Amino acid sequence: MTIDIATLQLPTDKKVELPILQPTLGFNAVDIHTLGKESYYTFDPGFMATAACKSKITYIDGELGILEYRGYPIEQLAADAKYSEVIYLLLYGELPTAQQKLDLEKSLKENATVPDKLHKLLAAFPQDAHPMSMLMSLMSALDAFYGRDINIENADDRNKIVIQLIAKIPTLAAMCHRHAIGEEFVAPNAQLDYAANFLYMLTGTIPGDINANAMDVIFTLHADHEQNASTSTVRMAGSTGTSPFAAIGAGIAALWGPTHGGANEATLNMLRDIKTIDRIPQFLARAKDKNDPFKLMGFGHRVYKNRDPRGLIIRDMCYQVLGSDSKHADNPLFKLALELEKIALQDPYFVTRKLYPNIEFYSGIIQTALGIPSTMFTVVFSLARTTGWAAQWNEMISDPDYKIARPRQLYMGYAKRDFVALEKR
Ligand code: ACO
Repeated sequence: MTIDIATLQLPTDKKVELPILQPTLGFNAVDIHTLGKESYYTFDPGFMATAACKSKITYIDGELGILEYRGYPIEQLAADAKYSEVIYLLLYGELPTAQQKLDLEKSLKENATVPDKLHKLLAAFPQDAHPMSMLMSLMSALDAFYGRDINIENADDRNKIVIQLIAKIPTLAAMCHRHAIGEEFVAPNAQLDYAANFLYMLTGTIPGDINANAMDVIFTLHADHEQNASTSTVRMAGSTGTSPFAAIGAGIAALWGPTHGGANEATLNMLRDIKTIDRIPQFLARAKDKNDPFKLMGFGHRVYKNRDPRGLIIRDMCYQVLGSDSKHADNPLFKLALELEKIALQDPYFVTRKLYPNIEFYSGIIQTALGIPSTMFTVVFSLARTTGWAAQWNEMISDPDYKIARPRQLYMGYAKRDFVALEKR
């Protein structure tokens, strides 16, 4: 909705009127899409001040540390909703009734198996390949089985794809791990709910209630996060009309990076390198040294300049899960992480830059306690985020005004020059 007009005074003395759009919540946005006609672009590397789309799915207030899915606070969803309810909410906009929840769970279970040929594809990977590389291949291979006869402009077809994606991603994720450890694949168990079934397919053992619940909450916390790097990648790839399996595969690729979804694996590796509490100061000194590329992994966030609300929930859950099992009760990495957080949050470098622990700071510790190896952390993140990616892709394709994403550039290279023959160079 346009609430006002911003006037941009160009050096040519021309004034351009730009509508100011008002969201339900958050910053107003200046609509600059007509500026190209005036032979001007806006320049915003890293999209620090760019709203790339309209969306009704997730809202974040990074200054206040607020995260809401379809208006519901993440704290309430993590405490009271099953992940299947969160899937329904993100996809369809409302919390499900009891019957809608059952129907969704049934259709996720019915679609959880994957074609045998994918097992053969996975067998071609070296066992020590990173499971994210396996997952990317499996995801794009799904198109060969489920993507060929669908029309993405048709809402029913899109819904079928979205269900296939969310139903099959836990099976694919667990298969990557089973291949890496040289064990037989474990078929989905329709008696178990979504999170418990994933842990079962991963480990071959039916998890206890506390662990299954922790997995469910981890999925909820990672399910969506508005227009982050991987979601924007899914939207950008999807905007070309490509296969949704390919678009989600692109999202998996973007999530893999250590400054995005790979941060949980990197955080655990960092804690293992730090080893003992007395070594924290030397690592903090490295993180503050501009000549050292080392960063405190699991700290800082592009949007949260306050506590990441998901990080607080995961930290509390660490107490619950670690405390429930005597073999983890004295977890040295958790103790180290708590101490590192305490020391960093008293350090002016982190305080002035508003660098707080993000969701990934504690998520590796809890996933380790659930029996998930660190190489699988980003795969678990991809699994959960598939719901958000699918919802965002569907929202974009449903919008009759969506356009292929095609940014421009500030060209800083040579102006035209004549070719120099090889012998004269
Ligand atoms: N350790 C040390 N210094 C940091 C850190 C860190 N983890 N994060 C940011 N800073 C510093 C920057 O060097 C910069 O300092 P300067 O102002 O003196 O130049 C300042 O804080 C601002 O940081 P930016 O790089 O501008 O923040 P940006 O928004 O671009 O980056 C990011 C955010 C990528 C998450 C960054 O904080 C980071 O790399 N953190 C570690 C990786 C991580 O945990 N990523 C997971 C994010 S959550 C997720 O994706 C699910």
